[in-house]
Amino acid sequence: PASDPALVERARRAKAALGDRLFVLGHHYQRDEVIQFADVTGDSFKLAREAAARPEAEFIVFCGVHFMAESADILTAPEQKVILPDLAAGCSMADMARLAQVEDAWDVLAAAGVADVTVPVTYMNSSADIKAFCGRHGGVVCTSSNAKSVLEWAFQRGEKVLFLPDQHLGRNTAVLQLGLGLDECVVYDPHRPDGGLTAEQLAAAKVILWKGHCSVHGRFTAEAVDDVRARIPGVKVLVHPECQHEVVLKADLVGSTEFIIKTLEQAPEGSAWAIGTELNLVKRLANAHPDKQIAFLEKTVCYCATMNRIDLPHLVWALEQLVEGNVVNQITVDEETSRYAREALQRMLDLPG
Ligand code: 13P
Ligand code: SF4
Repeated sequence: PASDPALVERARRAKAALGDRLFVLGHHYQRDEVIQFADVTGDSFKLAREAAARPEAEFIVFCGVHFMAESADILTAPEQKVILPDLAAGCSMADMARLAQVEDAWDVLAAAGVADVTVPVTYMNSSADIKAFCGRHGGVVCTSSNAKSVLEWAFQRGEKVLFLPDQHLGRNTAVLQLGLGLDECVVYDPHRPDGGLTAEQLAAAKVILWKGHCSVHGRFTAEAVDDVRARIPGVKVLVHPECQHEVVLKADLVGSTEFIIKTLEQAPEGSAWAIGTELNLVKRLANAHPDKQIAFLEKTVCYCATMNRIDLPHLVWALEQLVEGNVVNQITVDEETSRYAREALQRMLDLPG
């Protein structure tokens, strides 16, 4: 549905009043009504870089989820303020790895005699304290667009990787991009004693995958790929690497949101695509490319509920409060956590490519 014209006008006016003091970042999974006010849109990697490259902005309004706003706060100067228009915009995947659980897992690895040869790698979709844990232990952050080069970096420094918190991105990258065997990956379940793994299993593994997943991407199925191929002859299936391994194996192409967007921009007129990622983005792409047939891979999968928390009323409220001199919903990461999390983030940002 079209946005409420009165709210659109209020957002416009507030943005104009704040001018260069304000910079609005929008993740690709955000609603259209919000994306129209983003100064820049991107995947989580691009948005982290963009946040770090705006030292002149006093206020960074992050239209995305909590872990992204935390990363922006870590990468910006102390006087810059990062604002998340709705504090309930979290991420269920990030919530699947808590610091105390990860510290316990590290103890389990130490008891098995493998912690010293393990490099912790966390997906961007994790809380700041998990990033800081990785920073403290010589580890690094990755995103869906650079997971391959980050894992290669990690394997130059250790024999094993502890991959947090998305088992699917970890498995898909290790097996399909680094050529490791499926049997070289084991899953650490934080809800079972010792992660449900024996010391022998830990010693034999190359990649220890945290048992976390995205509640949106994890729901695409391999059957949906078969169904869409039967329904749309010649369709190309393009999915995000947070999808399950069986889905990615059946797809034609796999990549981050930024990769999905570029692929469709370059696709020939008349080509047919089925996309396995968040619905706001798929709908926007279908509207942007009327010359191509763009379908959503699985009808029963819905929007990311927490991405959708950021709507136009929340954005207008946050902007108007700023105009009045009130900083609402500021996201701050404490200095100690920031310092180590920044190390892990900076190692990623410093990688070539
Ligand atoms: P990217 O933006 O890195 O593709 O991540 C997708 C995602 O799930 C963000 O929450
Ligand atoms: Fe988290 Fe998945 Fe939503 Fe991204 S799409 S914010 S990973 S729940």
